Amino acid sequence: MYSINQEEQIIHILKESLAPDASHHIMTYGCQMNEHDSEKISWVLEQAGFKPTEDPDQADLILLNTCSIRHSAEDKVYGKLGELKHQKRKRKLTIAVCGCMMQRKESRDCVLKKFKHVDIIFGTNNIYKLPSLILEHYETGRPVLDIEENFQTEDDALLANRYYPYKSFVNIMYGCNNFCSYCIVPYTRGREVSRPSQDILREVKNLVKSGVAEITLLGQNVNSYAPALEDGYSFTNLIYDLAEIDGLKRIRFMTSHPKDISKDLLIAFRDLDPLCNFLHLPVQAGSNFILDKMNRHYHREDYMRIIDQVKSLVPDIALCTDIMVGFPEESERDFEDTLDLVRYVEYDSAFTFLYSPREGTPAAKNPNQIPKEVKQARFNRLTDTLYPIFERKNKQLIGQTMDVLVEGVSKQDKTMLTGRTESFKLTHFKGDKNLIGKILPIRIHSANSFNLEGELVDK
Ligand code: 5AD
Ligand code: SF4
Repeated sequence: MYSINQEEQIIHILKESLAPDASHHIMTYGCQMNEHDSEKISWVLEQAGFKPTEDPDQADLILLNTCSIRHSAEDKVYGKLGELKHQKRKRKLTIAVCGCMMQRKESRDCVLKKFKHVDIIFGTNNIYKLPSLILEHYETGRPVLDIEENFQTEDDALLANRYYPYKSFVNIMYGCNNFCSYCIVPYTRGREVSRPSQDILREVKNLVKSGVAEITLLGQNVNSYAPALEDGYSFTNLIYDLAEIDGLKRIRFMTSHPKDISKDLLIAFRDLDPLCNFLHLPVQAGSNFILDKMNRHYHREDYMRIIDQVKSLVPDIALCTDIMVGFPEESERDFEDTLDLVRYVEYDSAFTFLYSPREGTPAAKNPNQIPKEVKQARFNRLTDTLYPIFERKNKQLIGQTMDVLVEGVSKQDKTMLTGRTESFKLTHFKGDKNLIGKILPIRIHSANSFNLEGELVDK
């Protein structure tokens, strides 16, 4: 495992120059991959002498871990950088920006040109170098930029300051080879690289030893997990090996691609107790014409067949998806196909998006872009179709007792705890803080589109 000792000397010099109460605050945009990167960054910064703080106004170092999947995600970062300029005038503050936007030349150049108060810029592959970059900035007083184009890095073995002590993300692969015609990820995160299975198994065993009950395996397309030098070893093999680990209660993964999902994996859902009955399978659209234009390599019939199979193997599986509306050339008929598919599948939850043209992707060049008002109207019709389905599915659970991993105290009502069922349903119930981290039986008594409420069942 990578040891921060490799940067020991640098860390030592850096710590000497810091106040004993030096602190950092990370603002994370985007997906779970970024969230997990932020946990690693937080760990590296703490080793280097910057304690984490929840309050950005107190932080000596503010770091923005950025996302470029949609235009709106980038705009949020530019807005925040504008705000930070004022803060920096008032006090001594170091500002660092990293993540997907910094892997993209256009966005990086924009930050360099318009936000001269940014001190450190680095990419998605060189978190481990952060102490050196900070030191270089402190010593020279100049902005420091370090972008690593090589996607296989030392970051793999960094430890993480996990947000929850009893659940954890675990990277199994990086990058994506799919080149969906709308997506920027293959350009920012590079080609697929899978971690060796032994490294993953070792990491998970260590996590379990430290009290972790649930892991979420992360990759842009976990079904194409294929470690070099392990001929024929598949994602399903990895799941079976992980399920053997004593003490590991729950295994989740995201994200899978419908074109690569195997029957073996669906069978694993039925046969492996720790594999949670929750499948996130992005469909993106319900029209074959649009799916072809998106370069997705499956049709609605293929997708529906997978759903039929998984439902027949695991009747209580909860289904989640990603759907995009307003892709170039999407007609009213195409959109109706999406609504029709959504009604067929009966999702439990979904991430819904307005298509956002990303410079450099083929779809952005399509001259037949859909007007904003049409996109927004379709988006509203989509959510109007989805939310009653979510509600109906959640209401079917009323009266059932479900195991809930307790995550914390509810933000809205401090007397309530929140947690997740195996099927990833957010569940609230009354209880004491000392129950956090436990898996407990909760009898569901009410439900709406987005969460369940219940009470703790006495054993
Ligand atoms: N515009 C809108 N949504 C997008 N996604 C990816 N690229 C775009 C884009 N250009 C969505 C997809 C993907 C999810 C992570 O983000 O639905 O599954
Ligand atoms: Fe993007 Fe498609 Fe790869 Fe997902 S599978 S990251 S949508 S290119």
